[in-house]
Amino acid sequence: MSPHMENLAKPLALSLGSYALWRLVRPHVSPDEITKVPGPGGNFAFAGHMQDMFGGEHAWKFHERLLTEYGGVAKIHGVLNEPQLYVSDPVALHHIITKDTFDEDSVLLSFVPNVWGPSFSGVSGDHHKKQRKMLSPVFSIQQMRGLVPVFYPIANELRNVFADEIKTGRGVVDVFDWMSLTALEYIGRGGLGHSFDALNTRKVNEYNEYIKTAVSTMTVLYPLITLMPYIGHLGPAWFRRKVVDWTPINAVHRLRDISDVMQATSEAIYHKKKSALEEGEEALTGLVANGKDIMTTLLKANSKADEADRLPENELLAQMNALIFAGQDTTSNAMSHALHSLAMNQGVQDRLRKEVLQAKEDNGGQELGYDALIALPYLDAIFRETLRMYPPSAIVWRQSVKDTVLPLSRPMKLAGSKEEITGLPVKKGTRVIISIMNANRDKRVWGEDAFEWKPDRWLKPLPETVTKAKMPGIYSSMMTFLGGNRSCIGMKFAELEMKMLLFVLIENFVFSVEEGTEITWTFQVLQQPGIIGPDGKVDPRSQLPLKISFVGDGKP
Ligand code: HEM
Repeated sequence: MSPHMENLAKPLALSLGSYALWRLVRPHVSPDEITKVPGPGGNFAFAGHMQDMFGGEHAWKFHERLLTEYGGVAKIHGVLNEPQLYVSDPVALHHIITKDTFDEDSVLLSFVPNVWGPSFSGVSGDHHKKQRKMLSPVFSIQQMRGLVPVFYPIANELRNVFADEIKTGRGVVDVFDWMSLTALEYIGRGGLGHSFDALNTRKVNEYNEYIKTAVSTMTVLYPLITLMPYIGHLGPAWFRRKVVDWTPINAVHRLRDISDVMQATSEAIYHKKKSALEEGEEALTGLVANGKDIMTTLLKANSKADEADRLPENELLAQMNALIFAGQDTTSNAMSHALHSLAMNQGVQDRLRKEVLQAKEDNGGQELGYDALIALPYLDAIFRETLRMYPPSAIVWRQSVKDTVLPLSRPMKLAGSKEEITGLPVKKGTRVIISIMNANRDKRVWGEDAFEWKPDRWLKPLPETVTKAKMPGIYSSMMTFLGGNRSCIGMKFAELEMKMLLFVLIENFVFSVEEGTEITWTFQVLQQPGIIGPDGKVDPRSQLPLKISFVGDGKP
C-alpha cells in the first residue's frame, strides 16, 4: 500500500465502519412507517436484497413476487439494511415523478458528476430545469425528420454486414453484439455528428469495448458507489482523482479508464464541431451527418441563447457523455428483445414482413420518410409491445427530499396494525425504486395476459383498466420512458432508430433460433441475453445468437 493510501486508510475505514454500524442498527433505533410496510424477508446485513434484485436469471421471479404477493408497494432492503420502497402503484408513481417531494437519488447526484460530468442525472432542481430547457427542443420531431437521411445508411450498413455473414459464414450472428455496435453508431452520427466506425467488420471497436463494460463495472462497484453521497464531494477534483488512482481495486481503475476514454472522445468531437461552427455553415456540410445531428443543433441554439439560459462548456461536454450512455445500451437492449421475440414468433415476423414489403412497394420501392415509417401500424404495435414487456431500464431509483405522504391506489395494512391506510408517511431521504417493469406488467391493469408478448393488444382499444390506471408515463400508458421532468428526452430518437432498423432488417432477413440453442435473459441493471449450456447453466458471456437467412430463401 502506498504511504498516501496508508494515511487515508484508517480514517476512511473508521468512518465507513461507523456508517455501516449506524445503517444496520438505525431501523431498530429510529423506525419509521416504511419499516412496517410488508415485504420479503431475507438476510439483510450487507447487500440487502441487491442479490435477489440483480441475481441473474432468478431475479425475474423476485420482481414478479414483489408484484403478485405485495401489490404496488413493497418494502425491500438496500445495501447495509437500508429499507427502501419498491413501487409500481400508478397513484404512488404519479406522486413520485411529478411532485417536488422526490428527486434523483443522491447516489447518482454525486456519482455522475464525478464520472461523466454535470449532465442530467448529476444535477437537480433549477440546474436540471435549465439543462432540459436547452435540450428538449433539440429532440423535436422536426429534428428527427432531418435525421432520416443520416439514419438510413446505418441500417443499410448493418444489412450489408448481415448479408456478408450469410454468404461467408454459418448465418448465425450475435445479435446482441451487433445491436450494441449499431446503437453506438446511431448515437454517434445522429447524436454527436461523429462516426465511431462501429460497423467496420475488419477491426474491434475499442471505444465500444470500453463502454460496454461500464454497466457491469458499476454493478460490481455498487456497494462502494452507494457511499458517494458521503465521499463524492470530499476535497477538490484533483484530490478525488488521486484517491481513485490509489484505491487498490481493479474495477475502480476500470471505471476511471472508461470515464477517461469517454471524456477524451467527447472533447475531441466537441472541439472539431466548435471550429466547424466558427468557420460557418459550409464547413458543417463536410462533417458526418452534415450538421443535422443533435449536438450541432444544440451548440447552435446554445450560442444564440440568452446568457442566463446558456450552458457552459463543461456541461455541453457532459451532455455528450450522457447521450452515449443513455442512448446506446437502452436502444440496443430493446432492439435485441424485439428481434429475439420475432425469432420466437414466426407468424408475427411474417405479418410484419408483409406490412414492410407492401409499404415499400406502395412507396415506389423507395425508402419511407419519417411520418410514413412511424405510422406503420403493425411495426408500431411490435415497438410498443417490446417496450412494454421488456423496458430496458426496468427499475430506477428516486429519493424523497422532504417528509411526505405517498398516496396509494389500493389501501394497505402496515405490520402490527389492523387499519388500512391509503397514504403512506415517508420520511425525507427515503429511497424508492420505481419498478417500470412491474408497472408495465401488472395483470390488474393490463389483463391476465400481461406477462405475454402480444403485439396485437395494440391494434384494438386498450382495456379500460389501462386507461383508468392513468399511468404517469410519457408514452402509451406505460412507464418505459418514465414521466415527469426527468422523463426520457431521447424517446423519439429511439423510436425512429428502432423502427427503421426493424423495417430494413425484416425486409431483408428471416430471423430464427437455431435448433438446440436455448436462450435466456438474466436480470441485471440492464437485462443480458445468454445461452443455456448442456449442464443447464447460463453461459456467463452475454450473447444472442440468432440464425439469419435471406427473405425468399425459404423458411429456416
Ligand atoms: C428504448 C430506448 C430508451 C429507453 C427505454 C429510455 C428510457 C429512459 C428512462 C427510463 C429515463 C429516466 C431515467 C432516470 O431518471 O433514472 C431516461 C432518461 C434519459 N434518456 Fe432515455 N431511453 C431510451 C433511449 C434514449 C436515447 C436514444 C437517448 C438519446 C438520444 C436518451 C436520452 C436520455 C436522457 C438524456 C435522459 C435523462 C433525462 C433527464 O434526466 O432529464 N434515451 N431514458
